[in-house]
Amino acid sequence: MLATEKSEKKPQIKSLDTLFIQTYGCAMNVYDSSRMSDLMQEAYGLRVVNDPVDADVILMNTCSIRENAENKVYSELGRYKKIKDKRPDLIIGVGGCVGQQEGDRIQKRAPYVDIVFGPQTYHRLPEMVKEIRRDRVRVTEIDMPEIEKFDHLPKPKVEGLTGYVTIMEGCDKFCTFCIVPYTRGAEISRPVEDILEECEQLIEAGAKDISLLGQNVNAYRVEGDGEDVGFADLLHLVGGLEGMERLRFSTSHPMEMTTELCEAFAEIPTLMPYLHLPVQSGSDDILKAMHRGHKREDYFKAIEELRLHTPDIALSSDFIVGFPGETEEDFELTLDLVRKVGYDSAFSFKYSPRPGTPASKSEDDVPESVKDERLQRLLALLREQSRERMEQQVGKTLDVLIEGKSKNEGDLRGRTPDFRIVHFKGNPRLVGQTMPVNITEAYNMSLRGELIIEN
Ligand code: 5AD
Ligand code: SF4
Repeated sequence: MLATEKSEKKPQIKSLDTLFIQTYGCAMNVYDSSRMSDLMQEAYGLRVVNDPVDADVILMNTCSIRENAENKVYSELGRYKKIKDKRPDLIIGVGGCVGQQEGDRIQKRAPYVDIVFGPQTYHRLPEMVKEIRRDRVRVTEIDMPEIEKFDHLPKPKVEGLTGYVTIMEGCDKFCTFCIVPYTRGAEISRPVEDILEECEQLIEAGAKDISLLGQNVNAYRVEGDGEDVGFADLLHLVGGLEGMERLRFSTSHPMEMTTELCEAFAEIPTLMPYLHLPVQSGSDDILKAMHRGHKREDYFKAIEELRLHTPDIALSSDFIVGFPGETEEDFELTLDLVRKVGYDSAFSFKYSPRPGTPASKSEDDVPESVKDERLQRLLALLREQSRERMEQQVGKTLDVLIEGKSKNEGDLRGRTPDFRIVHFKGNPRLVGQTMPVNITEAYNMSLRGELIIEN
């Protein structure tokens, strides 16, 4: 669908030089934003600025998972309107999941917005901008074409040492609380060759830590022409690329933790020992009401199998407290699951209904005060576990990828294989190298260490 609408009094738009992108939400949005900026740089030579006041084009890459997502977008847009009042040439675009969900409604409520686009249509941004400049129209593009966008994107750029590659999009799981299947569409996997090529480009551009992204990466599957490549196969292919140093992926679903995938961590030397495996709740009744498709026992089995092959694997998860109907007993089962699994880190959320989801039709019956109290209890337990796991690193010698200078004068900052931040003294010329560091102290969010040898 391409809807355009004449807006009468818009003045002629002058040359475009600068771009500001405001990004909300998940790693996929961070990836999408970096591709948008690559695109706009290629098409218009735009320079990215850090302050919207200096921008000729402002793009918001929004996230509908945030509570009150639409309202937050409109209030942010109010700020941009003030800039546009002074500089009517300014182009404002709203993309991402709120763009997808709200569509034309955005320009009804905020007529100064020029472009509305979704996660699957941002490759057409240069064209949309051209149309606005030529015809002075407003554009809404929220089609869900078959993952064509990847064929229209320029070579990815690497910022620092990390690179991201989207390997699949969308989600077919339809958890009852979640908006993603409606905003990002059905699961669809990118061809293997495209993924390998993009990874090679990133490696060539200096990426040393590459993350494969998707809403449900372990649902990755490409079939046909005698080919049948599942996610574990893909990891073997990508992990074995020449020059690949560190490989990660996010996010996985417990239902598709195959034996091959559990084994992959032990079999692929470049695959880092870190897994984000959201469980949301430890109660079978709530898991069922959430339509998660697995029981707590299945989750334990997956963790057990992972640890059988990679005992030290770092684990993180997402939790929702106060889902409709969640009793104190249900919540205690979540605490019990956390105690049994033992996490390195986690993201915890109070349930809130997202318009358009099945759960939003049930009464949001857990009082806010109870949600608050449960969240605090869960966070306290997770903090304690995470601190314990940090303490366990003291005395170990870990391979640290040195990412840059630390904020502390004279210190460097790097990452362990399981993604912990380490600060240590060292020469800045070591940036980009992986060196063994002896861990001497643990804090809540980071470690301190000493380089074994400085070369
Ligand atoms: N309420 C609270 N948390 C939610 N999440 C997704 N939808 C909701 C909601 N309606 C959380 C889930 C998911 C993470 C990305 O956001 O925990 O894994
Ligand atoms: Fe949302 Fe569930 Fe799909 Fe994750 S698996 S994106 S929580 S519907």
